[in-house]
Amino acid sequence: MPDATAGFAEQALDVRRPSAILPLEARNLVFEAGGRRLIDGIDLRLDAGCRTVVMGPNGAGKSLLLRLLHGLIEPSAGSVLWQGKPADRTVRRRQAMVFQRPVLLRRSVSANMHHALRANGFSRQEARDRARDWLAYAGLSGFADQPARVLSGGEQQRLAVARALSLGPEVLFLDEPTASLDPASTLGIEEIIQKAAASGTKIVLITHDIGQARRIADEVVFLYRGRVEAFDQALCFFDAPGSAKARAFIEGRIVL
Ligand SMILES: Nc1ncnc2c1ncn2[C@@H]1O[C@H](COP(=O)(O)OP(=O)(O)OP(=O)(O)O)[C@@H](O)[C@H]1O
Ligand SMILES: [Mg+2]
Repeated sequence: MPDATAGFAEQALDVRRPSAILPLEARNLVFEAGGRRLIDGIDLRLDAGCRTVVMGPNGAGKSLLLRLLHGLIEPSAGSVLWQGKPADRTVRRRQAMVFQRPVLLRRSVSANMHHALRANGFSRQEARDRARDWLAYAGLSGFADQPARVLSGGEQQRLAVARALSLGPEVLFLDEPTASLDPASTLGIEEIIQKAAASGTKIVLITHDIGQARRIADEVVFLYRGRVEAFDQALCFFDAPGSAKARAFIEGRIVL
């Protein structure tokens, strides 16, 4: 849980300026593998200033969509455009991603922070300062010199989120960041995400946790079999879903 002085995150993030990279658009996005069309012609426009939650049954294509948007994998057809253009170096630097299972180096907690910051162009001194401040913010200062892999799952995930935010991204993609965490750790991560959003970071989050989706979402993308089945304002999605599949999903009935 954050243990640094109030307001640190807001100051450190400092992205409350007109976005240099948004909106983000998927245009007729297709991804095929193993003879299957896993992402099946997605059109989507994500704007600055709102928190987007991606939901849908297992295997719907949520993780693939995030990987495509983030540029980790190439589409089979269609395009991902940032302010109408393909991702360039600036775009790549201004977005970060947190995975369900944190991807950490076999090094110390602070080395994990430092390495990411240096790789993203921060000077040695800046990397040291940011690593220290963000570890404090994430309540991880006491672990700085320990191997990252000995942290608990919840601590590793806090480290992954702190590492991503320390880069000052304008867009933060999160793929089920709290899937294996206890309620307190989940709320701790949510608090960090909400502060980042309040500071102007665009949040694009996958979750199966409907309570979490209600707490975080301004808008919901509901995926079903590689397609956008519904894309609505959160209130509308949860209280009066236009899609029968979305309604079945929210009510915990299996969507076939
Ligand atoms: N590289 C790949 N090659 C072949 N199939 C793949 C590949 N990556 C994903 N898939 C398949 O694509 C489908 C969508 O996968 P994806 O991981 O995006 O689902 P998801 O919506 O994130 O599901 P979950 O809620 O279980 O995380 C799945 O059926 C998966 O097995
Ligand atoms: Mg997934």
